[in-house]
Amino acid sequence: MYKGNINLDILPEHIAIVMDGNGRWAKQKGFDRIFGHTNGINTVRQITEAAAEVGIKYLTLYTFSTENWNRPQEEIHGIMKLLVESIEKESETFRKNNVRLLAIGDLLRLPEDVNKKLQTCIAETSSNTGLSLVLALSYSSRWEITNAIKNIAKDCLSGKIDDIGLIDETVISDYLTTRNIPDPDIVIRTGGDIRISNFLLWQAAYAEFFFTKTYWPEFTKDEFFRIISEFQNRERRFGKTSEQIKSTKN
Ligand code: FPP
Repeated sequence: MYKGNINLDILPEHIAIVMDGNGRWAKQKGFDRIFGHTNGINTVRQITEAAAEVGIKYLTLYTFSTENWNRPQEEIHGIMKLLVESIEKESETFRKNNVRLLAIGDLLRLPEDVNKKLQTCIAETSSNTGLSLVLALSYSSRWEITNAIKNIAKDCLSGKIDDIGLIDETVISDYLTTRNIPDPDIVIRTGGDIRISNFLLWQAAYAEFFFTKTYWPEFTKDEFFRIISEFQNRERRFGKTSEQIKSTKN
């Protein structure tokens, strides 16, 4: 079955987005960076609704990176304030749209009130069965992988893992903050830069990448749907040959 150009029978399960370009968008219009983030929230709402509408199961948004802690205090404070306000404001939308909120990252580094609001919303939406909206907060892959290695080492020392030979890719995935979340099929980056910026390095091993020049506040549902449709026309080979892929399809 089709919705526009999207084949609903072969939907990507997980789409991850680097929401870049808020600051430049605001500057271009003569406003301060926070104005860009405030407008970015409208795009978050539209894309969340669009993802839920077609039946995407996981949408991960790179909301605040480990490196973002180095931004001016005023901007950090502004983003944290926006986060609390949005979580509060959108709780009802989550309930109505059957959205489950999740978060990945070093959440203990967040201001206490932000983490508290977040945890409350996560608990309140935990039984929703539609889209899982995953906010990456105080997140970076190198932080996450370092943390996983420390925890694996700890479990080796305590004897919980008693055979190093048993540490495989599944075990490593289980020590990441994304445990229980499938790997992303699509990674989108808005804002014109072509880089990954410490985002889902392990998980995106076989993701399809899409880079757009559109600044995040101007990213639309139409462009999002166009990307999904283009994804559906790409051949994912996972290291195999095109012939092998075609023969398993038939
Ligand atoms: C990147 O643009 C964007 C951020 C670091 C913050 C994004 C946060 C929001 C849109 C608010 C999120 C709220 C919810 C509820 C998910 P940039 O500042 O790096 O832009 P630039 O590259 O143009 O400077």
